[in-house]
Amino acid sequence: MSRRIIPVADVSAIPDFSGVATPPSGLLTDTLHRPLRDLRISVTDRCNFRCVYCMPREVFDKDYQFLPHAALLSFEEIERIARIFVAHGVEKIRLTGGEPLLRKNIEFLIERLARLATPEGRPLDITLTTNGSILARKARSLADAGLSRVTVSLDALDDALFRQMNDADFAVADVLEGIEAAHAAGLAPLKVNMVVKRGTNDQEIVPMARHFKGSGTVLRFIEYMDVGASNGWNMTEVLPSAEVVARIAEDFPLRPLEAHSAAETAQRWGYVDGGGEIGVISSVTRAFCGSCTRARLSTEGKLYLCLFANHGHDLRGLVRSGASDDTIATAIARIWERRTDRYSQLRGSNALPVPDPDAPRVEMSYIGG
Ligand code: GTP
Ligand code: 5AD
Ligand code: SF4
Ligand code: SF4
Repeated sequence: MSRRIIPVADVSAIPDFSGVATPPSGLLTDTLHRPLRDLRISVTDRCNFRCVYCMPREVFDKDYQFLPHAALLSFEEIERIARIFVAHGVEKIRLTGGEPLLRKNIEFLIERLARLATPEGRPLDITLTTNGSILARKARSLADAGLSRVTVSLDALDDALFRQMNDADFAVADVLEGIEAAHAAGLAPLKVNMVVKRGTNDQEIVPMARHFKGSGTVLRFIEYMDVGASNGWNMTEVLPSAEVVARIAEDFPLRPLEAHSAAETAQRWGYVDGGGEIGVISSVTRAFCGSCTRARLSTEGKLYLCLFANHGHDLRGLVRSGASDDTIATAIARIWERRTDRYSQLRGSNALPVPDPDAPRVEMSYIGG
């Protein structure tokens, strides 16, 4: 079965900002009563890795058309949009990609975002998800710019397997060095995300747990998701989180921990002997749409309300049309108030309508994890 790739240059309409102007109150909720609290901003659609589950080389090859520079939101545009989101209630901003550290002068953007505050005057939680390959060089300048913390993706400790999974010959040692540098720079609490693919890297679960146990870094295991349209996802390659926990608990007994907040994607488990904690992100076997407070801004300024969405709202068009802050705030309010997305929950239940697995979808490398 052939799967379609979303053309990233699809034409989408300028969002609706008609009706009564909606100045930000911080109280926006969607049709399922979910508030808007997190904004994930993709700053580049490029990556130096070709992870098999995200940017397979057959698709993202030398002929693949990445976005031209003029299509990208500028730092000024990102800051302006982010400020309006913060007025609407956003408290956490995550920079993603592709690989966000490939965006030139990303520190300048972080400096701008770090100056924003919630309406009550609290600083924002500003974080970034990276593959870690150039983190050793960047950690200090990122922290100096005001980044709160980082999440590093790492799928294996075995070097040969890691190179096979990133399909770009990057060594595990570089990423581990990046993690060390992030620690030293105070980008804590540090998290490491491992996407688990049954039959590919599930033998690395226990070695990864052993490596990070007691280090202060929180290792989280992510169920391989059917996100995007290019990774040839198959349920047989998903290893349920319950099995991840069971495998680790055989060597290192675990007990469940309370969630930090209702909107947390991960379920926390603590080592009984006090060696810290792990997390499992069960997007496939235990969907968390009911508490999904996340909006995603693509590299070219389209607003997506779900990782599995096939339609974005063209905020860049609105910004570049000369719209005022009030107009942009009203458009964002209209979009969020009408939000109905809960893809993972629908896919996991027998409820109708069951989402069409072959519908065109946006790629994770385009809107970020
Ligand atoms: P922290 O504040 O660091 O805990 O952030 P987080 O819990 O949002 O985690 P993170 O941003 O590291 O996301 C981890 C992974 O969870 C992502 O790479 C995705 O694979 C998955 N994920 C995050 N948000 C969503 C979501 O809204 N839906 C689904 N289905 N998966 C998500
Ligand atoms: N399933 C689960 N997680 C994924 N990521 C990318 N593609 C997938 C997928 N198909 C994760 C990466 C990284 C973040 C950017 O998104 O591991 O942590
Ligand atoms: Fe790049 Fe992250 Fe996707 Fe891997 S998962 S290809 S590192 S964006
Ligand atoms: Fe949120 Fe969509 Fe993920 Fe559900 S599937 S948690 S609605 S992003």
